[in-house]
Amino acid sequence: MKIALLGHGTVGRGVVDIIDSGTGALEVSRILELPQFCNEARMTSNFDDIVEDDEIDAVVEAMGGLEPAHGYIVRALEAGKSVVTSNKAVVAEFFEEFVDAARANGASLFIEATTGGGIPWIAGLMKVRRVDEVSSFSGIMNGTTNYIVDQMSRSGAEFGAVLERAQGLGYAERDPSADIDGIDVKNKTIISASVAFDVACTHDLPVSGIRNLTKADLEFFASRGQSVRLLGKGVQELGSYAVAVEPTAVDARSMEAAVPDNFNLLSCEGATIGPLKFYGQGAGSLPTGNAMVQDLLDLAAGVRPIYDFSRGLAYDPTLLSGDYLIRAAGFEPSGAEPAGAGYHRVPDITAEQARSLLDEALSVDPTAFMAAIG
Ligand code: HSE
Repeated sequence: MKIALLGHGTVGRGVVDIIDSGTGALEVSRILELPQFCNEARMTSNFDDIVEDDEIDAVVEAMGGLEPAHGYIVRALEAGKSVVTSNKAVVAEFFEEFVDAARANGASLFIEATTGGGIPWIAGLMKVRRVDEVSSFSGIMNGTTNYIVDQMSRSGAEFGAVLERAQGLGYAERDPSADIDGIDVKNKTIISASVAFDVACTHDLPVSGIRNLTKADLEFFASRGQSVRLLGKGVQELGSYAVAVEPTAVDARSMEAAVPDNFNLLSCEGATIGPLKFYGQGAGSLPTGNAMVQDLLDLAAGVRPIYDFSRGLAYDPTLLSGDYLIRAAGFEPSGAEPAGAGYHRVPDITAEQARSLLDEALSVDPTAFMAAIG
């Protein structure tokens, strides 16, 4: 099967390396590159050379960003070419449009590499969905922030120093906002919810990150027998669902608290399967390339993912609610009790209310931090 690759960066190179090392049925026949980097006969800087080539069955999009990736994916699907993408931002934004375009043109959309890198999380959710409704999912979906929290917990270093180390290792971008403010996890949560709950999740979900997490915060949670992890989470119940991204206190003896370095751990639950956990590398050239090659092998074997957004689930924020711990100097939320170390415990609010409360707190103390405690 002939494929074209859009984007020859970290992930794209991983796809080429795995295919070139011998996956039999696959051949990378075209690579879209900037003109100055076109140094192989199969490289082109003109997308028309790809979309108009009838021999190409599949387009592998590993460019990242919204445009031109969105336009290229739609054009490829409209030309009847299946698309395999690792681009979580574009799928989170245009999932339903891509699914409709694929269906209308006899093509397929494969998204395993968008969430959890090399971990077969999307495939796992789809398999669970064949028998059970997914009642909930949650996960450490961002390796950079897990690395930061893990290193801070282990070495007692402050956030800034560990972030610099993460940037040195290539885990964190020069502008780390998408990771540390939860935007990357937001995209992965939208995709996970869409697959797990069969809903085109377009809700403006509550998102908070770990930008203000300090060594003292981790010591406070450790004194309670807990660690903190940035989790993407979703729940569905009786025709409704809710999703959120927020720092969450987890039991210090839990599997989440033990996830080291930049690894991911994704969990879901169904009535007959019970709780399931998927652990592995959520980023990187070869793990993410591996997920894309797996998708291509499925395509070559005639295995097609099925997305069905027709159930019309309602969004109900009360499905994700619980107690929160908030630290903000000079800010005392009503109904909250002092919990020590400058923290207040706020009982029984929704994730949406918690996010609003955090905004209020940040306007008083820009270093405020909040975590869900279940
Ligand atoms: N920045 C992401 C992470 C890359 O750290 O997990 C993989 O999506």
